Amino acid sequence: MEKIRAAITAVNAWVPDYVLTNKELETMVETNDEWIQTRTGIKERRILKDAGEGTSKIGVESVNGLLKKRGIQAEEIDLLICATTTPDLVFPATANIICDKVGAKNAFGYDIQAACSGFLFALTTAAKFVESGQYKKVVVVGADKMSAIIDYSDRATCIIFGDGGGAVLLEPDTNGYGIYDAVLKSDGSGRHFLHQKAGGSVKPPTHATIDAKEHFVYQEGQTVFKFAVKGMADVSAEIMERNNLSADDIAWLVPHQANKRIIDATANRMGIGMEKVMLNIQKYGNTTNGTLPLCLWEWEKQLHKGDNLILAAFGGGFTWGAVYLKWAYNS
Ligand code: UT7
Repeated sequence: MEKIRAAITAVNAWVPDYVLTNKELETMVETNDEWIQTRTGIKERRILKDAGEGTSKIGVESVNGLLKKRGIQAEEIDLLICATTTPDLVFPATANIICDKVGAKNAFGYDIQAACSGFLFALTTAAKFVESGQYKKVVVVGADKMSAIIDYSDRATCIIFGDGGGAVLLEPDTNGYGIYDAVLKSDGSGRHFLHQKAGGSVKPPTHATIDAKEHFVYQEGQTVFKFAVKGMADVSAEIMERNNLSADDIAWLVPHQANKRIIDATANRMGIGMEKVMLNIQKYGNTTNGTLPLCLWEWEKQLHKGDNLILAAFGGGFTWGAVYLKWAYNS
């Protein structure tokens, strides 16, 4: 029997309209456009301001467009996995809310939490359901409304993050396209350097936790930076090596967009020129689970059937990983 691989057969993404520029941030915290651009590569990011809308809004817009592009009905979706760090609610899963809102009545769904590596972890998990032969249409959403957990008086974090995300459809392929390999890692001892202190079961919300601003992202930037540079480059090099891929074999590096300097270091280690690196951090900042589908969506028209792509990410946890896939279609 021919090997079934999970191939991405459609991609879509969505960002809110509101643009938060570096200039506007200058009016909110002690920072400046030049520092932000030099240290991170970010010029602006999008913010979801609509009252009553959470991460599921990004997922719903992405999935509705995805179904339209592929010409299928919501009822055909078998499974929807949502990677997010900012779920609409603590429970139930945002995946269930998205399924309800798009009308995916025959799907089961759940969320994956692996911070900025979540989309890769979800993609790899979803691929197994397709490879098993049991599921034919699996949607992976990567989305975050980071503005919900950002302290806009903390210049160390508020300049980095933005809202947005996207979705891909995975379908079975027996012609040699799709996901070939994944290297996924996590190290919980890194949790101290990037986390949200309160709101979970250890420290449920109280007036005191709110006063202490413990419901926002806490990050020790320099430490995370050091681990990210090493982690993302290591897994990218490892996946190339074990699949006998040289830099020339790779059409695109699709890196998590956390800091342009981390992306540069990864590309450098892989021996890949920046012309083969998807980079849109300047427009969206770090959308956590949203960065990778946002890249695939923006570059979709430049992708060709058979292109070798390496997706790579690093995030809170720590979590990190790389996925190697062969693009399955010309758009
Ligand atoms: O996606 C999940 C994983 N997250 C990441 O990968 C993020 C990794 N970390 C980073 O990207 C970087 O560490 C940051 C962008 C967060 C910070 O950049 P940095 O080059 O590591 O800056 P720093 O924290 O070492 O600060 C350097 C200086 C400090 O001033 P002094 O002590 O040298 O006088 C900071 O106070 O820059 C100052 N600074 C700022 N200045 C203007 C820190 N933030 C700002 C700011 N505007 N927003």
